[in-house]
Amino acid sequence: MKKILILNGPNLDRLGAREPEIYGTQTMSDCLEALAELFPSCEIVYFQSNHEGALIDRLWQANDEGFFGVAFNAGAFTHTSVALLDAIRGIEIPVVEVHLSNVHQREDFRHKSLISAGCEGVIAGFGMQSYRLAVQALLARKG
Ligand code: DQA
Repeated sequence: MKKILILNGPNLDRLGAREPEIYGTQTMSDCLEALAELFPSCEIVYFQSNHEGALIDRLWQANDEGFFGVAFNAGAFTHTSVALLDAIRGIEIPVVEVHLSNVHQREDFRHKSLISAGCEGVIAGFGMQSYRLAVQALLARKG
């Protein structure tokens, strides 16, 4: 069974309650339940951390465990973290960058992603559907 890691960075443990006007009211567990139903042929594994190093460790672990790919919402670390870019570039499995909001419609500092250069692609602006689209993109990849 293909294992796909849904990886969430800082403050994304508060989805449903955090700035609902931007991120909506759905919780991550609602989203994961929907993903499990939509993709019964995959094992969807979830990890969230507010700590950069823990996210780096989880990326390498997913690589070493032969995961099929990663849908990664790095939260605010997207805009700051060279270390996450290095990890994404270092691992061999594909990573799709995910954002719930359309970061390009928001403050200037959210327009720049340091991690995009290492990712297969970017999905932003579709709320919780962004995770579904990222999993679909991973599954549609060749090779
Ligand atoms: C986010 C966008 C980031 O700019 C922000 O810091 C987040 C969430 C999104 O999913 O839209 O924490 O990654």
